[in-house]
Amino acid sequence: MNSPAELQSPEDAARLAKAETVLTPRFYTTDYAAMDKLDVSSIRAEWDAMLAEYEGDNNHDHFQRTAEFTAEATALAAQWSPQLRRDFQEFLVSSLTSEYSGCVLYNEIQKNVSNPDIKRLMRYMTRDESRHAGFINQSLKDFGLGVDLVNLKRTKAYTYFKPKYIFYATYLSEKIGYARYITIYRQLERHPELRFHPIFRWFERWCNDEFRHGESFALIMRAQPELLRGANVLWIRFFLLAVYATMYVRDHTRPWLSEALGMDPTDYDYKVFDITTEISRQVFPISLDTDHPVFRAGMERLCHWQAAANAAKARGGLIGRLQQARCAVGAALTFGRLYLLPVRQHALPAQMRVAPSW
Ligand SMILES: [Fe+2]
Ligand SMILES: [Fe+2]
Repeated sequence: MNSPAELQSPEDAARLAKAETVLTPRFYTTDYAAMDKLDVSSIRAEWDAMLAEYEGDNNHDHFQRTAEFTAEATALAAQWSPQLRRDFQEFLVSSLTSEYSGCVLYNEIQKNVSNPDIKRLMRYMTRDESRHAGFINQSLKDFGLGVDLVNLKRTKAYTYFKPKYIFYATYLSEKIGYARYITIYRQLERHPELRFHPIFRWFERWCNDEFRHGESFALIMRAQPELLRGANVLWIRFFLLAVYATMYVRDHTRPWLSEALGMDPTDYDYKVFDITTEISRQVFPISLDTDHPVFRAGMERLCHWQAAANAAKARGGLIGRLQQARCAVGAALTFGRLYLLPVRQHALPAQMRVAPSW
């Protein structure tokens, strides 16, 4: 997994984008007929204000490659170690895949509904994610690694999620995306000497798009209050933990990015959790106590199981397979214990929208 070998060709990049593991970004489909029936009339004023922001399109000129960008990227890349080069290329492929995953999902919903509110929203979000994916792909093309997105759309596996799971998961991934990008951007404002690629300079305006995408799902959920109470709170709890744990394990299995940017991966992840938890109070009636010592120990434990599973996989053979099974059980038990930890409860605020003020 930590091979220093560089990605050599667009085919290598495409293979990485198509990989299906617990930690890699996925593509989703959903129930379009149910999406078509969504009714936002109970939150009409907030909804219309949000769509007016999309219409205003304050980032329409942001995702353009400039000559300065190319020159800076070339000059900085000449100073990278082979390991940084490889890690950064993987980061670009994984970021491209998750941006494009949103693009494909929103576009499919847009094409399959006639409900004007949902259709408009999905069209705007498709526009944004398509810009994001295209902009990352430009940087991959600098390495001769541009991914054929049409082919990726056709050949990557899709996971079906009911609409409510799409709302919980996508809301969180948009808000966590915001929190990650803004934390990196603020760190590099303090330490510009650590900015090893110009793309990070684009993150501030970029993450405002992700923030607004998250707001859209917050409003959709607030328009269906049954999704935010009763047994559904158990699902919210599950998605919060699954999304946080996936991020933590991924960042700790490959801690290069936060380290290259001068941050401790644990500090970085807990900062991202804090921001996401604070934002998510706009819509979720519970939040995880990420400062609880048992929570923190559990996250470390999940990393341990992941590292052991990777070693077992590398070992191979019957013993390797048995060890991998043992790790899967260990990780599931750890996840279960984390799931049962007490959570914080809070009432939903009357003011539904939050401003991106971090
Ligand atoms: Fe995006
Ligand atoms: Fe987004």
